[in-house]
Amino acid sequence: MSPDGECDESPESERIPDRNRMTRLRRNLSRWYAAHGRELPWRATHDPYRIWISEIMLQQTTVAAVIPYFERFLEQFPTVEVLAAADENEVLRMWEGLGYYSRARNIHRTARQLVAERKGTFPHDAVELQRLPGIGRYTAGAIASFAFDERAPIVEANTLRLYSRLLGYDGDPRSSEGQKLLWRFAEAVLPKANPGRFNQALMELGSTVCTPAAPDCPSCPLRTVCRAFAENRQEEIPRPKPRPKITPVVEASIAVRRGDTYLLRQRRAEERWAGLWDFPRFELGEDQPGHLDRSDEALVPVLHQNLQGPLKELTGIAAEVTAVVTELRHSVTRYRIRLICLEAEYRSGDPTNGDETQQWCRPEDFEELAFSVTGRKLARLLVRRENSGS
Ligand code: ADE
Repeated sequence: MSPDGECDESPESERIPDRNRMTRLRRNLSRWYAAHGRELPWRATHDPYRIWISEIMLQQTTVAAVIPYFERFLEQFPTVEVLAAADENEVLRMWEGLGYYSRARNIHRTARQLVAERKGTFPHDAVELQRLPGIGRYTAGAIASFAFDERAPIVEANTLRLYSRLLGYDGDPRSSEGQKLLWRFAEAVLPKANPGRFNQALMELGSTVCTPAAPDCPSCPLRTVCRAFAENRQEEIPRPKPRPKITPVVEASIAVRRGDTYLLRQRRAEERWAGLWDFPRFELGEDQPGHLDRSDEALVPVLHQNLQGPLKELTGIAAEVTAVVTELRHSVTRYRIRLICLEAEYRSGDPTNGDETQQWCRPEDFEELAFSVTGRKLARLLVRRENSGS
């Protein structure tokens, strides 16, 4: 029977363990978590605001990398009201380096919506939580169960792997059939008492024992109810995600100097890293010399020539490219970017476009703005150079 009381005759549903195995699974996992669960900053609270921020940060980022971001973010924005009252740039500044900046913008929008419509409170119900910007089924389940102890299921990267192995599911866990099965299991496995703690335990086992490579089955409290372990298939389940083809890209960034300032622009809504500040940046097509291994001296005149038109079009100014400052390597999703950072002297034109998205900025003010990762590296390099007087 499915949880809504209807019979489910699909063969996949037969993978869901029977009542006895479920009881054993719950008991073994609960005991294991009491002894082995880590103390993490977002586990010491039932505050839905803190839980929400941690879960958004934890999507695609490791626990170790998230902890300092989480602590800084909460220090700056201790409540949903403080976050709602902040500027978007301040929020992006605190998010800088975490990537996936639309998540930060959605957090900000959601905070404003919660304050405007609900006096800063969160819905308790997972279905209602999913109506908020940037909150999907997983995050809604996490907030509802961790903060309010609602019996809401969760499936994310760690639990997707754990459930696939427990059920011995060798189909694609991201297909609609796979998702249906895993969500059904996630719902069926939840106990009546303390479902929030139980969800944490499932996630903890997935992230520390049932790891993607070389899972530690001898230490696993669930090995006696695990179909993948019984069949010795834990290394091949779940079926891996097809790897995206990596595309190399060459870009140029220009630090245009005018007196003691540099030209910065805020990236537009339709661009990658929307809302973040950056130096004017251009993709170099296949026909550009950036793809060739040339010395810096040989690159400068050619890039100067080729970037005049694009610079004028993007910013409204003309400048003389004078040197290569550095080269940076950076990977974003499926792109491997080689970024040639150039320096230029302002010559003519007016970049101020009435909406303050292009500004001449002094290096001592760079730290107040939220930059792209490579923009920040170039900005800090310019500041260091300035301070060392070269
Ligand atoms: N990954 C996603 N959410 C997590 C959490 N609450 N604890 C540990 N790892 C996680």
